[in-house]
Amino acid sequence: MDVFASLNPSRLTGLVCLANIRLMQSKGKSVNILGIETSCDETAAAVVADGRIVKSSVVASQTKLHEKYGGVVPEIASRAHIEKIYPVIAEAIQQADVGKDDIDAIAVANQPGLTVALIVGVTAAKTLSFVWDKPLIAINHLHAHLQSALLEQNSPELPAVALLVSGGHTSLYNYHSPLQPILLGSTIDDAAGEAFDKVATILKLPYPGGPAIERTAKKGNPDAIKFPLSMLGKDSLDFSFSGVKTAVLYYCRGQDMKGENKVDSMSQSEIADIAASFQSAVINVLVKKTKRAIERTGAETVLLGGGVAANNQLRTALQQLCDSYKPAKKLLIAPKQYCTDNAVMVASLAYYKFKAGLFADLTLEPKASG
Ligand code: KG4
Ligand code: ZN
Repeated sequence: MDVFASLNPSRLTGLVCLANIRLMQSKGKSVNILGIETSCDETAAAVVADGRIVKSSVVASQTKLHEKYGGVVPEIASRAHIEKIYPVIAEAIQQADVGKDDIDAIAVANQPGLTVALIVGVTAAKTLSFVWDKPLIAINHLHAHLQSALLEQNSPELPAVALLVSGGHTSLYNYHSPLQPILLGSTIDDAAGEAFDKVATILKLPYPGGPAIERTAKKGNPDAIKFPLSMLGKDSLDFSFSGVKTAVLYYCRGQDMKGENKVDSMSQSEIADIAASFQSAVINVLVKKTKRAIERTGAETVLLGGGVAANNQLRTALQQLCDSYKPAKKLLIAPKQYCTDNAVMVASLAYYKFKAGLFADLTLEPKASG
């Protein structure tokens, strides 16, 4: 049973008032936020001051647990979050060298993600908020990924075009402020990271697929095979990556899918050519769509975040796109350690919600979509 369901509504109102008092008190002094992230397969906690000074960041990865299934198994993820959430939060607080009185708010990613995973972080955050009398802040995981591109930047010229490329999502935003990204387009089928992961499985490369494809592609020729680019019409800012993934599958198994997967009999260099050609096709689409979004919005700045933003070829290709404008567009990319899921991005974005007085209460629920 959810202990919060039985809470007295006046207690909830009290917490929201308390949040506002904390907001007033914080004027002029630094604001420490404890961030919690459990949306997929990383249990993470971090303490960040004033949205940008990282006092601690702890990430417990579940890669080893999901590896043999070739993808994230929700029940296994949920159980692992339950086991890790307390030690990870305790370590984040200890590393930050802060006491509970130094924490001004508790922030948690409550959407989107696997509900059975999100609920662990949300329950931990609500419990700490209640027991420690701290304001609670709900964070959209996707918006947090974009915030990580702004971690090292003081005052970027906004609006920006923001490209989010992760395992579950691929989207373009018109980014006016950290709290108001406006969706311009998103994937209609597989996300970019999901396509990397699935193609890695076809090529019998290790899990997680993105880094494995990138490593393998380094030894291959990106022009060796012409995989299809799906642009979805000349004005579309949506994405589709299932076609390129299927093209790789047909390439390896034959058009009728009746043949054996030829990967076992392929040379290392043939596999590297497939990886490099696939990677190049995906990056080509990402760059072309970002260009469309820049031209549609007239933005001077481009933000890149999400797990696939760790890919060096993508980082370089977007830099080349930005440099091709006169004057050049400013490209801001999440630092590598904050591309994949982490809690620094959650605590960092929460700072803007804290300053705007946007608090949640103890009825906060996880949401699969967002
Ligand atoms: O953002 P993230 O940690 O989780 C989600 O919110 O989904 O992204 C994970 C995704 C995985 O699909 C992983 O294969 C991909 O990011 N990824 C990469 C690279 N590193 C991680 N994809 C391509 N190249 C990489 N270097
Ligand atoms: Zn993510």
